[in-house]
Amino acid sequence: MKRSVLLILLCALVWACKEKAPKQLDEATNVADNYEEPYRPQYHFTPQEKWMNDPNGLVYNDGIYHLFYQYYPDDIVWGPMHWGHAVSTDMVHWEHKPIALFPDEHGLIFSGSAVVDKNNTSGFAKNGETPLVAVFTYHLMEGEKAGRNDFQTQGIAFSLDNGDTWTKYEGNPVIGNSGIKDFRDPKVFWHEATDQWIMALVAGDHAKFYSSPDLKAWVHISDFGKNHGAHGGVWECPDLFPIKVEGSDEVKWVLIISINPGAPNGGSGTQYFVGEFDGNKFTTDQEETKWLDYGTDNYAGVTYNNTPNNERIFIGWMSNWDYARDTPTKKWRSAMTLPRTLSLRKNGDGYWLSNKPLPQVNKLATSDLVSSLEITGGETKNMDVDGLGQSKIVFKTRSKDFRVSVKNSLGEKVDLVMDSKSQSLILDRMKSRKVDFQAEFGNKKHHAPIDQLGEEAFEVVIYLDWSSIEVFVDGGLLAMTDQIFPTEPFQKLIFENSDEEHKLQDVVVKQMQSIW
Ligand code: FRU
Repeated sequence: MKRSVLLILLCALVWACKEKAPKQLDEATNVADNYEEPYRPQYHFTPQEKWMNDPNGLVYNDGIYHLFYQYYPDDIVWGPMHWGHAVSTDMVHWEHKPIALFPDEHGLIFSGSAVVDKNNTSGFAKNGETPLVAVFTYHLMEGEKAGRNDFQTQGIAFSLDNGDTWTKYEGNPVIGNSGIKDFRDPKVFWHEATDQWIMALVAGDHAKFYSSPDLKAWVHISDFGKNHGAHGGVWECPDLFPIKVEGSDEVKWVLIISINPGAPNGGSGTQYFVGEFDGNKFTTDQEETKWLDYGTDNYAGVTYNNTPNNERIFIGWMSNWDYARDTPTKKWRSAMTLPRTLSLRKNGDGYWLSNKPLPQVNKLATSDLVSSLEITGGETKNMDVDGLGQSKIVFKTRSKDFRVSVKNSLGEKVDLVMDSKSQSLILDRMKSRKVDFQAEFGNKKHHAPIDQLGEEAFEVVIYLDWSSIEVFVDGGLLAMTDQIFPTEPFQKLIFENSDEEHKLQDVVVKQMQSIW
C-alpha cells in the first residue's frame, strides 16, 4: 500500500516537473526565447543565430512564400555559404526551416533564385508533382585560392515537396565558366511571350542574359550595361521583370542591379534601369543612374517569382559590405528589410520605381502612441513616447523643411531632415551611439535627392525596429534604410517644422507588434 502511494506521488512529481520544464529551442518554430537580445529586430526577419546575407530563391508556391538566404551556420561572420530557409503565409510571420542547400564538390552555394516549374519542363517530377527548381552560383574556393578566374559556375537543385527537401541535379554545373572572375547570382523567370526560361546573370561590369527550354541547357543571348549606370564596383544580384506603370496599361521592364562598392552614400547599393525586354535583349534610353534606396543598408534585394496577381514583392539584405561583419550583435548577424511592394511611376519623361512595405506589415501597427497631432509652420514639438524604438511614425505634409528626431535619455539620436535649399532628404545616424565598430558606419550623413517630389502633399512613413530605421516618402518614391545601434531604446520624439506655410498633419505614432 505504502509503496503504491509513493509510486503515485513520484509519478505526479515527475509529471509536474515535466509541465514546468522550459520550452525547448530545438523546435524550428519555437524561437520566442532567443529573440530578446540587444538590437534584435522584432518585426524584421533575422536568422535564429549566425551569419546571414542576401535573400535567395524568393518564390511563392501553393500558399507559401519561401525565403532562402545566404547563410553560414558556424559563425557570425561570412563563411562557406549555404542556403538557409524560412517560410511564411503572409510575408510578415516566418517559420524557420532546416538548411536547404549545402556546399558540395562544385563549391559553396552563392546567391540565386527559384522557380515553380509548373509544366515540368525540367522533367524532375516523375509522379505528377510540381518541381521547385533553385538556380544558384557555385563558388569553388580551391579555384579561387589557386588564382584561377573560372571558379564561379551555375548549378540547379530541385524539390518535389514544396521546398522541404532538395536534390542537386547530377548534371551540375549547368553553365560553366570560360574565365570570368565575377560570374554569378542567376535570376530566372518564365518569359510568357517567347515560352522559355530567361536567366539574368552578372559578369563583373555588366549583365548577361541566357535562355533555356528546360532549366538545364542554357544559351547566352545578350549582354547589357558596360556603358550604362553606376560602375564604382562589381555588379551583383540582378533581377529583371515586367511591371505596369501606375494608372495605365503601359508595361515596362525593370532591371535591378546591386553594386558594391559605388552606392550614393558609400559601399553597397542597388540601382535600377527601366526599359524594354523582348525575350532576347534588354534596352533602355534611361540616361541617369537611379537608386532604389538611398540609405546604406538595403543590398542584394530581388523580387519574388510566381506571386498571386503578379505582385512585385522585394526583400533586401539590411546591411552593407563596408561593415556587415563588424556590427555589434553577438548571436546572429543582420536582418532583411521589410517585404516591400514595387510599383512604377511615370513622372515627366522619366519612370521611377517606388518601394514601400506590404499592406499586411501594417497589421502589426496596433495601439496609438501618439494620435492625430499637428505641427504648424515654425513650430517645434517635443514628446515622450514610450515604445518608440519599435514603432511606426506617419505624417502628411507639403513642407520641405522639417526635422524629425528620435532620442533616448543618453542623448543618442537619429535625425531625419528634409531641406528644400539643398533639395535633399538627410538621414543622420552619426550620434546614434555605436558607430565606431568600423570607420564608414558613422562618419557621414546620408543624402537623397528630393527633386522628383511634386508640389502636392506627400506622406512620410518611418519604421523603427531597435536596430533599423526605414523611411518611405510619397508612397516609397523615395526610400532610405539604415541600421542603427543605440544602447537604450528611443523614447523621445521631436518634430521641428521650419516651413511657415505648411503644417505636418495627421501625425500618428503606432506601436509595432513583435512577430516572434
Ligand atoms: C552579394 C554577394 C553575391 C554573392 C553572395 C555571396 O552580397 O556578394 O554576389 O553571390 O553575396 O555570399
